Amino acid sequence: MEESTEQPRKIELNDGTYMPLLGLGTWKPEVIKFKYTNCLLLYNNLQKMGDELFPEKDGKILTTDIDYVDVWKGMEALKATGKVKSIGVSNFTIEQMERLLSVAKIPPAVNQVELHPYFVQSDLIEYCKSKNIALTAYSPFGSPGRPSEYQRGETDPMMLLQDTVVGDIAKKHRRTPAQVLLRYHVQQDIVVIPKSMKPHHILENTKIFDFTLDEEDMNALRSLNRGWKACIIKQ
Ligand SMILES: NC(=O)c1ccc[n+]([C@@H]2O[C@H](COP(=O)([O-])OP(=O)(O)OC[C@H]3O[C@@H](n4cnc5c(N)ncnc54)[C@H](OP(=O)(O)O)[C@@H]3O)[C@@H](O)[C@H]2O)c1
Repeated sequence: MEESTEQPRKIELNDGTYMPLLGLGTWKPEVIKFKYTNCLLLYNNLQKMGDELFPEKDGKILTTDIDYVDVWKGMEALKATGKVKSIGVSNFTIEQMERLLSVAKIPPAVNQVELHPYFVQSDLIEYCKSKNIALTAYSPFGSPGRPSEYQRGETDPMMLLQDTVVGDIAKKHRRTPAQVLLRYHVQQDIVVIPKSMKPHHILENTKIFDFTLDEEDMNALRSLNRGWKACIIKQ
C-alpha cells in the first residue's frame, strides 16, 4: 500500500479563487459534465459551450487583429463587472507575459500552455511561478487523437503514452502511463486538462491523487524533453 500523499485537489489563484488541478479537455466533446471544462475562442465547438458568448457571421466566429494588450483591458473590465471569476491567457511566452504584466492592472491568473515530458518548458514554469501565475498543461498525452493532417510523422510527440520510460514508471507504481503523465503535472501544482471521449479513460484519469512520483521518476520524465509539441501556435 503506497503512502498517502495528501496532494491537494485545488490550487489558489492569484485572485483568491480556487481552481481544480484536474479538468476535462473539451476539444471535440460530445458529452460535457465535469467541474472544470476548458474552452477557447480557437475551437470550433463553442456552440456546444454557449453560442451567445461568441458573435458569428456566415457560420464563422468573428475574430479581429486587436493587440492582446487591448483585449486584456477588456477582460479586466469584464472581471470588474463580477461576471467572470478569473481571467487568464493561453500560449503566452515569457516575452508576451512580460509585456502584458508591464501594463496590466490585473495580472493573468493562469497561462494555459502545452506541457508534457517531451515539451518540459522549465523556463516558462519557473517564470510563471515567480510571478504567482498558475499554469494549465494542455495536451498532456501529446494529443494522440489529433486528425492525421495535424500529425508530423516520426518527429510527432503523439507516442508519449507508449514511451518506455513512462511505461516503466507506470509499472513501478502499478498505474497506467496516462496516470503517470497526469500526476507529473499535479505534483508540480500545475493544472492539467486531459481530453477523453471514453468514460473508462475519464475515470482512469481522475485516479491520480493517491500516489507519488519520486524525484528519480520526475527527473526521468523531465529527461525525455526534446522540445516537441503537438500544437504549433503562431505567436
Ligand atoms: N489552449 C490551447 O491552445 C489548447 C491547444 C490544444 C489543446 N487544448 C486543450 O487541452 C485539451 C487536451 O489536449 P488534447 O485534446 O490536444 O490532447 P491530450 O489530452 O493530450 O490527448 C487526448 C487523447 O488521449 C486519449 N486518452 C485520454 N485519456 C487516455 C487514457 N487514460 N489512456 C489512453 N488514452 C487516453 C484520448 O483518447 P480517448 O478519447 O479514446 O480516451 C485522446 O485521443 C484539449 O481538449 C483542449 O481543451 C488547448
